[in-house]
Amino acid sequence: MAKIVVANWKENPQSQKEAEVLFKGTFLLAKFRENTRIIICPPFPYLYLSGKFKNKKVFLGAQNVGKEEGGSYTGEVSPKMLSDMGADFAIVGHGEERLLGETNEIINAKILNLLKFKLSPILCVGESERDKEGNYLSFVEGQVKDCLLAVPKAQMKNIIIAYEPIWAIGANATREATKEEFMEMKIFIKKVISDIYDGKIAHSIPILYGGSVNPANASQFVDGGKADGLLVGRDSLDPKKFGAILNALN
Ligand code: PGA
Repeated sequence: MAKIVVANWKENPQSQKEAEVLFKGTFLLAKFRENTRIIICPPFPYLYLSGKFKNKKVFLGAQNVGKEEGGSYTGEVSPKMLSDMGADFAIVGHGEERLLGETNEIINAKILNLLKFKLSPILCVGESERDKEGNYLSFVEGQVKDCLLAVPKAQMKNIIIAYEPIWAIGANATREATKEEFMEMKIFIKKVISDIYDGKIAHSIPILYGGSVNPANASQFVDGGKADGLLVGRDSLDPKKFGAILNALN
């Protein structure tokens, strides 16, 4: 299976000009990588810029989506708008959105909305702290179950899950996960999926790692932790670093 590498630009860069440079740099990186599927997730206003550089190896994703099909919802963006801009994917349930109050119920509505319009959700899950009693496992189990509520079996081939522990993401990260921590969680999430659906779906669903991924640690998650790919924040803003992460996977 091709490895999936998601570039989550978050609230960056600050100008169109810089976004074009970043698109160009990232698209060039994809050229000789047969076995990697790169998904660039820029801020909404830059989605349309990617059309200039679009090729078959790089996909476009949004960082969020509204839970309605459209209408009187100030500040929201619909799946149809995203797909019209060329996006095939959207991140949902990112830890930074959850910290602002996004619930599993809202994320579930967003997932169902995306699937209705043939976009693939990249569902982020992850605990904010690891306790010795292992409560973080049931916390993540709850996230997976609640966010996938009523998602039909036949749609599961369109879902990607990213395990992103809150303590490992963004500028406030305390550390990245270890490959063992990731591997444990990957197996656990697959068991949860197997309980809800079946072993076949659990086997085929891609589970990515995200949180302080950099050129030095990328291969530990993919080779050591058997991640199906990576979700990269800060180091996706520098094509040199992002390229080095891609190199680490090949
Ligand atoms: P980071 O972000 O790579 O900057 O830690 C990852 C994410 O939050 O998606």
